Amino acid sequence: MSAVDCKKILETLTLEEKVGQLVQLGGEFFLEDLKSVETGPSEKIGLSDSFNRYNLGSVINVLDSKEIKEIQKVYLENSRHKIPLLFMADIIHGYQTIFPIPLGQAASFNFELIEKAAEVSARESYYGGQHVTFTPMVDLSRDARWGRISESPGEDPYVNSRFSEAVVRGLQGNEDSIGKEKIAATVKHYVGYGSVESGREYNAVEMSESTLRQFHLPAFKAAVDANVRLVMTAFHTLNGVPATGSKWINNDILRKELGFDGVLISDHSAVKELSYYGYAKDDAEAAKIAMEATVDIDMKTAVYANELVTLVKSEQLDVELLDDAVLRVLELKKDLGLFDNPYRGLSYEADINYEEHLEIALELAEESVVMLKNNNVLPIDKNKKIAIIGPNANNKFLLGMWAITGDASKYETLFEAFQREYGNDRVITSQGANLVDNVKNYGFPEKLAKLISAKDETLAEQDLIEEALRCAQDADVIVLSLGENMLDTGEGGSKVDIELSQKQRELVKTLSTLNKPMVAVINSGRPNVLSELEQDFDAILYAWYGGHKMSEALVNIISGKTNPSGKLPVSLPRHVGQLPLYYNNYSSARPSLKGEKKRFTSRYIDVDNDPLYSFGYGLSYTQFEYSNLKISPKDKSWDITYEVTNTGDREGYEVSQLYIHVPVSKIVRPVLELKGIQKTLIKPGEVFKGSFELTLDDINFYDNANSKIETQGSVEVFVGSSSNELNLESVIEL
Ligand code: BGC
Repeated sequence: MSAVDCKKILETLTLEEKVGQLVQLGGEFFLEDLKSVETGPSEKIGLSDSFNRYNLGSVINVLDSKEIKEIQKVYLENSRHKIPLLFMADIIHGYQTIFPIPLGQAASFNFELIEKAAEVSARESYYGGQHVTFTPMVDLSRDARWGRISESPGEDPYVNSRFSEAVVRGLQGNEDSIGKEKIAATVKHYVGYGSVESGREYNAVEMSESTLRQFHLPAFKAAVDANVRLVMTAFHTLNGVPATGSKWINNDILRKELGFDGVLISDHSAVKELSYYGYAKDDAEAAKIAMEATVDIDMKTAVYANELVTLVKSEQLDVELLDDAVLRVLELKKDLGLFDNPYRGLSYEADINYEEHLEIALELAEESVVMLKNNNVLPIDKNKKIAIIGPNANNKFLLGMWAITGDASKYETLFEAFQREYGNDRVITSQGANLVDNVKNYGFPEKLAKLISAKDETLAEQDLIEEALRCAQDADVIVLSLGENMLDTGEGGSKVDIELSQKQRELVKTLSTLNKPMVAVINSGRPNVLSELEQDFDAILYAWYGGHKMSEALVNIISGKTNPSGKLPVSLPRHVGQLPLYYNNYSSARPSLKGEKKRFTSRYIDVDNDPLYSFGYGLSYTQFEYSNLKISPKDKSWDITYEVTNTGDREGYEVSQLYIHVPVSKIVRPVLELKGIQKTLIKPGEVFKGSFELTLDDINFYDNANSKIETQGSVEVFVGSSSNELNLESVIEL
């Protein structure tokens, strides 16, 4: 590690230079000089003329490595202190090699593989000159209306925590410093953002402390324990206080309780937004509040740049707070080795084995596909004639909203993959319907849409269904390639109607009159409502946005080369009115039992309570049988052993899940809580002997006064293949 002493560097800095380290701007502040790309960025965000851009600390979302090199060079030539710039970007599910969106990755329940994918992202980004990425996003998401559910690992704190630590480890490695082919990770958005009211983006969050600690904090704790270098604040208000300005969650919980000593960065413009909320009366107060909440970097506003010097000089802000923040930024630069080499990674001859990276992308794409239904129609035999019908059948724009560095032209469509696998003469395609009913509502910035190759969709004038019917005429099987447009999810992508478009529904209904086997492939960033269509499908594959290798993964599964193994990391609702919907809901005094229609119970009179498909659910081409649950007590923990037999005739992965339920407790407990996952490849006839460790800490639960209450009495223990198939059960008496 570098022998640089950050404290000594800090002493050499002027007040203005210190403040600069805490400011993050876009590359246009430098490219303006270099290439006259854009003029007037400083006016746009209201940056004062007195701010010296050669004091800046970090730059966001410059994606071209040559531009990074150029900016760093010009910066270092002009800056007095010569502290290198940090380059940060949103590399969310891949840099050059694009992996499934995070929700899809979580469906693999394979955290080792998720870690490998993060390693690939780090390697590619490192050679692209990036230092920090804004991932993992681990906001617990229980509401499919919220567009950002696509970016999250879903509704369960255990899955979120495992995902969180896996991504952090994959990106950063386990060394003290962040070395070759590694970059720094940022866990976000701290904390509770996934619970925005009504699933509407940037809305308020109201949450008990118990829920916050039990469900939302664990994934952040897991990242901090894995030594994540940055945390990003969030946009929402938590119980009336903007998350970015909350001393309680940022300083008291994150820093003091969880022990986070890295860089806390605001979300985009969130420091400025403290005054838009009316939580600060002006920018100066916003800067003071954010600094006192230990927010180190102000992302893309002029608030710190314009206000901090005066605040410190007038002694309204303790200079120690400023020094602490600057020191944390300097330590990050040191950790990344930037003082030794400001151009780390920037080699254009990097020896990257892209084939190997694509293999990992294929594996993860395959494992992320969830087979929800299969009435003996899958796999599809090689001599069958297949009609691939639907708006995604030949759609190249399915990489996901954050694939800003991914090349969509490299993406093979589902139709192309089918042609490759089944032969051109066996496969025929037709669009059948528009992906969306209304393309006018996105309000998406044009420049960004271009960057992610979002489809500039125009609604077809003519009736596509006629053509689809002709296409299906001679086919033995119809594969319906359906879903949502990429812009239907992601930031700012909240919706109240989460069914497939009206036109797609009409298409399905019309094709179902042909009475041919129909396989639905759904590409979407959220669990959609499929209730109206489910009965029409003989098989359903939920494939999210699966990255560069999604189509190959799907064809491998459909042709039977690969046995599907994904499980749902979120409940698939029956109706939008059920939302938020999650398996680990609190117990009710008047529960409604399935099939029972009693008036004064906790239920809807028009829709069942349970989801259409449950958390943890997913089918395989083989079958598994569970047996032999045994629990052996140890000191403050239990060894739980079980057996799974593959009773089918082909090899397959099973995701075994450990749940508990605590019936009596001083705070009402969820009906089920996931405490362990084991994903294993089991051969036909093989008996796998699995084991979990359950600790006392796993069983205890936070109350509303920040203490973990000790569970007493019975703990019901279940092992099974999904939250609604609890094959084995036993009881621990405390
Ligand atoms: C998003 C973050 C993202 C940041 C930087 C914000 O709008 O909420 O998730 O990392 O922009 O692009």
